[in-house]
Amino acid sequence: MVKPTHLASGKVREIYSIDDHHLLFVATDRISAYDCMLEPDIPDKGKVLTGLSLFWFDLIGLDNHFVTTDLSGVEVSPSERKWLPGRSMVVRRAAVIPLECVVRGYLYGSAWAEYAAGGGPTTEHLPPGLEMGSRLEEPVFTPAHKATTGHDQNLTEAEARALVGSDAFESLRTNSLAAYRRAADHARRRGIILADTKFEFGRVDGQIVLIDEVLTPDSSRYWPAAAWVPGRTMPSFDKQYVRDWLDGVGFDRTPPAPTLPDEVVQGTRARYVEAFERLTNTSFEKYLEENEA
Ligand SMILES: Nc1ncnc2c1ncn2[C@@H]1O[C@H](COP(=O)(O)OP(=O)(O)OP(=O)(O)O)[C@@H](O)[C@H]1O
Ligand SMILES: [Mg+2]
Repeated sequence: MVKPTHLASGKVREIYSIDDHHLLFVATDRISAYDCMLEPDIPDKGKVLTGLSLFWFDLIGLDNHFVTTDLSGVEVSPSERKWLPGRSMVVRRAAVIPLECVVRGYLYGSAWAEYAAGGGPTTEHLPPGLEMGSRLEEPVFTPAHKATTGHDQNLTEAEARALVGSDAFESLRTNSLAAYRRAADHARRRGIILADTKFEFGRVDGQIVLIDEVLTPDSSRYWPAAAWVPGRTMPSFDKQYVRDWLDGVGFDRTPPAPTLPDEVVQGTRARYVEAFERLTNTSFEKYLEENEA
């Protein structure tokens, strides 16, 4: 058995080294919004993120970092053995490419803000005359620089090419758009709009592979298709619910964030679980049972 050593804590994940080529990738129940950590945790959120990532890795079929959810070869304490199942996976260790590979099929969030303010890096390939929430004729690839600290910075195509090299840029764009289209088609059949999402890629033995979480409510904006009306604020299954609550109480986006009341914690959990169930067409209870310690 190999004993994992703690390598890094992300905003949501704990990452352990298993050996030179493998990591143990654990999604906690932590939640962040507007780059601030919120309190308290959202029960089971990490399991939703992991379950959804596994579902999408399988469905979109791109070469990715996932190896196994079988932790029998990993030496962990009894309490970790209880906590880890359902939220953990063994992945191939990659050299992370510092580009947040954002794909947008609808104009919303920071891209809408840029567009409404006269245009910016995320809007350079968009026609005039769009509204907030407009469906784009073709999805667009709007990469951002993965900042080591602070906010990610939106890049123009030229800046992104310069950052990662033109060949890598082409590959990242092609793969991101392909993954978005496959996922958006699937979601649409399940009555859900995938408005936008973010992928990360890394290099393993020189090959570019999809890494990190994929197409989770944390990395994506999902809307109930029936509720979509361009020009309006969209209700969503994703973090928008918590963001809206924070905006509603006048949070100025500077930490510390106000503590989430129980009702908002439960409302957030319910949205994560609903996103899982609608997208995968399986019950979350069943996922939990199948992934018990
Ligand atoms: N296969 C992999 N090999 C190495 N690093 C990985 C791999 N998959 C994901 N990562 C990195 O692990 C981290 C995931 O942790 P988490 O999602 O909590 O971080 P985050 O707060 O989003 O961090 P960051 O600000 O670095 O994106 C990310 O930094 C991601 O780039
Ligand atoms: Mg992350």
